[in-house]
Amino acid sequence: STVWVSADSAATSVGADEVAEALAVAGITVRRNGSRGMLWLEPLVEVETDDGRVGYANVAAVDIPALIAGGLDGGEVDGLDRIGVVAEYPWLARQHRVSFARVGVTEPTDLTAYIDNGGYAGLARALSLAPEQVVTEVTTSGLRGRGGAGFPAGIKWETVRTATADVKFVCCNADEGDSGTFADRMLIEGDPFTLIEGMTIAAHAVGATEGYIYLRSEYPAAIAVLRRAIDIAYARGYLGAGIQGSDLSFDLEVRVGAGAYICGEETSMLESLEGKRGEVRAKPPIPALQGFFGRPTVVNNVLTLGAVPMILADGGEAYAALGVGRSRGTQVFQLAGNVARGGIVEADFGVTLGELINDFGGGTRSGRPVRAAQVGGPLGAYLPAARFDVPMDYEALAAADAMLGHGGIVVFDDTMDASAMARFAMEFCTKESCGKCTPCRVGSVRGVEVIDRIRAGTDRDANLVLLQDLCTTMTKGSLCAMGGLTPMPVQSALTHFPEDFTGGTP
Ligand code: NAI
Ligand code: SF4
Repeated sequence: STVWVSADSAATSVGADEVAEALAVAGITVRRNGSRGMLWLEPLVEVETDDGRVGYANVAAVDIPALIAGGLDGGEVDGLDRIGVVAEYPWLARQHRVSFARVGVTEPTDLTAYIDNGGYAGLARALSLAPEQVVTEVTTSGLRGRGGAGFPAGIKWETVRTATADVKFVCCNADEGDSGTFADRMLIEGDPFTLIEGMTIAAHAVGATEGYIYLRSEYPAAIAVLRRAIDIAYARGYLGAGIQGSDLSFDLEVRVGAGAYICGEETSMLESLEGKRGEVRAKPPIPALQGFFGRPTVVNNVLTLGAVPMILADGGEAYAALGVGRSRGTQVFQLAGNVARGGIVEADFGVTLGELINDFGGGTRSGRPVRAAQVGGPLGAYLPAARFDVPMDYEALAAADAMLGHGGIVVFDDTMDASAMARFAMEFCTKESCGKCTPCRVGSVRGVEVIDRIRAGTDRDANLVLLQDLCTTMTKGSLCAMGGLTPMPVQSALTHFPEDFTGGTP
């Protein structure tokens, strides 16, 4: 029977290629899917049976003879961890996979399988609608920017659609720089046509003819998969002139960044795309009006664009029916750090942080008590276990002085030192600041110094006041979110873990 082995970077980093090779050498038909996102089970080998694909976890190349000797019928195999039918595995079955519906199911660059599994239904419907109707669907869906800021995608698209210009662009921000986030990469590696389709729908909606995907150089497998998928889409008439017999023309290209956190900030990304140094531009003007080479440009994150095909296929109202409050649809959460069961959890907005960390994550990998989680990347807040009842939606997190960001959750056990993490936030900013404005460029350096003094117990009270002052200056005076949000992890650490700032730490 056919055996599936993930080709995702997270799986190949723990030996999936060797497993696939061992199967192929033994004459078994091997197909390579994306990862199901159950990263602690990789390499996960899935054997096709009449009941569905049966999974074996943490398989190594040396286990393959035993697996084959077992008959490849989906039964128990001595020495292997059989998890049963993968699609019914509770961790996966209780998720709501919308954007990630095909990830781990199909071969990433199999366009026929993509279409057979609901792909390109969204574009077909979009092409039957006028551009303004497509924008209306996205507005109705309530989709908000998944890069972190949560700005309504429909309003952004409408701004670009109604702008007049000789040429307009759609740029996808795939410079996934947040620590503990990997959903952009996994969607691109596991189901690249979803992103291509989402961008093509955006192009039709706003009248763009060219698109660029800004992808980080640290993601070589994603770059290769996406380029292959783009070539296939061109060959099959899904990109280029007259897409699927319509009058829509859209050219799409991957551009590779050189590795700077700040190039994930949209204006710096545009500078970099234009071939310049990745330095932040002042806003206004917003990119929706003056973006790539000064032209109206949709800049959206991978996950924002990845939600669009389903929204068009099933209608904006179907997407808006999911979630809570002003946070509609699903969010692709990423569990990382000191967590027993890390990976991708796609769920409707409103799931609590505790459900994600304890029920899905299974607590810490170290087995020690969970002390805190940093939500929303390196600029996000540290929340203590006592606050894990917070629902994961934009407003509830903001009310908790935190932010959802790109959906990354990094878990810490009780050995975490909050003042060391606060220092790290400032240090990170010293390294990643683009240098354009003083509160960020200089403030972060002063921030490291003042936290060092607090940790050493030198003039503690005066230095704590100074640190709060500095945080206020950075929050209010920085040009972009890099300097503007660095105080968030620092202040959350101070608020929730004051006992770690009592001094006496060398
Ligand atoms: P922002 O609030 O300035 O802008 C959000 C988006 O809305 C931008 O694309 C902006 O151009 C657009 N926009 C604003 N007003 C508009 C209007 N009237 N019409 C049309 N478009 C409009 O936030 P920013 O600085 O773009 O992003 C900050 C966020 O980035 C943070 O909250 C953080 O969560 C996130 N972030 C994400 C990272 C990642 O790796 N994904 C890394 C670092 C930060
Ligand atoms: Fe550059 Fe930092 Fe200022 Fe942003 S806040 S523009 S990264 S110096």
